[in-house]
Amino acid sequence: EKGGWDSFMDKEIHEDPAAVQRTLIGRMDDDGHINLDEVRIDEHELKSIDKIIVIGCGTASYAGMVAKYAIEHWVRIPVEIELAHEFRYRDPILTPRTLVVAISQSGETMDTLMALRHAREQGSKVLAICNTQGASIAREADAVLYTQAGPEVAVASTKAFVAQITAAYVLGLYLAQLKGAVYRDEIHSTLASLKDMPAKIQWVLDTQAAAIEQAARELADSKSFLFLGRHVGYPVAMEGALKLKEIAYTFTEGFAAGELKHGPIALVEPGEPVVFIVPPKRGRDVLHAKVISGIEEVKARGATIIAVAEENDPDVKRYADIVFWRPACPTLMSPLVDVVPLQLFAMDVAKQKGYDVDKPRNLAKSVTVE
Ligand code: M6R
Repeated sequence: EKGGWDSFMDKEIHEDPAAVQRTLIGRMDDDGHINLDEVRIDEHELKSIDKIIVIGCGTASYAGMVAKYAIEHWVRIPVEIELAHEFRYRDPILTPRTLVVAISQSGETMDTLMALRHAREQGSKVLAICNTQGASIAREADAVLYTQAGPEVAVASTKAFVAQITAAYVLGLYLAQLKGAVYRDEIHSTLASLKDMPAKIQWVLDTQAAAIEQAARELADSKSFLFLGRHVGYPVAMEGALKLKEIAYTFTEGFAAGELKHGPIALVEPGEPVVFIVPPKRGRDVLHAKVISGIEEVKARGATIIAVAEENDPDVKRYADIVFWRPACPTLMSPLVDVVPLQLFAMDVAKQKGYDVDKPRNLAKSVTVE
């Protein structure tokens, strides 16, 4: 059932392109019109939504963080992201005009299920982004947008993450279309960029695997790793850190690159591996320059710099010790490619250390207790 791969995780990472592609199928036509008849919430009710709260745990919560950047940008309504277990127990402000989006691969995570129930009791609508047909979260939500990643077996979530981001983007563009918030042309071109992503992910898998494996060999014995990113690179940094700690049992911390000088830079000593998610240079030059200056700061303190960056980025070539390249793409699409080398890297480090990458210690695939 591993289809020739030596682990489910390996197989599932290689299904990232298909997971994105399948999650798009049937949800848009060639004129850039999104059709989500499957979302059974009345259009008028959706139009009246004035706040979105995305909830989830672990990897799903990082997909939710990415969703916040995109949906706020397109729909221009406030989007909050919260860990489901925190949301449930702090008496959040919920009204019939709040849309709660519950993200869950398994659809059985008890923390997320309890949060969903709470939101519905308070009169809010809940839309689930779920990978498992007929799971509890899918059944109890008012509407479901299925990610079509196919069954995910490895405990570390990989293809479900890219599928969750894709589904959240489809939802965001659909709401933008409903609200007339974004011009049709922008929706059209954004969908076109989204459709290009599977091929770009494939490029990373085809061309970067050897460099990633080499880096894993060199760094497998490191005691800790820091992961930094800005904007949508921030959740990618969090997810990269989670992958590595879950399966390689290495101490990792992910944080927003802007926080460096507010504390974490104190941790940097010679040889400390620091992974940077570098945004594209075009378009949002400011973001790029800020991340590069973060790289310079930790480089000056002797850190080993590992960068995930756009092909041929000259600044990255100058400073980074190790680079995992990705093809050019719009900033909002970049998490879909940037996370892929980090998934492979975590797996390769864990293999180097001789661990079972599919079944890490102390963890279950779905956490069905609160
Ligand atoms: O099935 P869910 O998406 O609700 O699971 C949420 C988390 O338990 C899950 O993402 C967990 O963090 C994974 N082990 C991450 O790889």
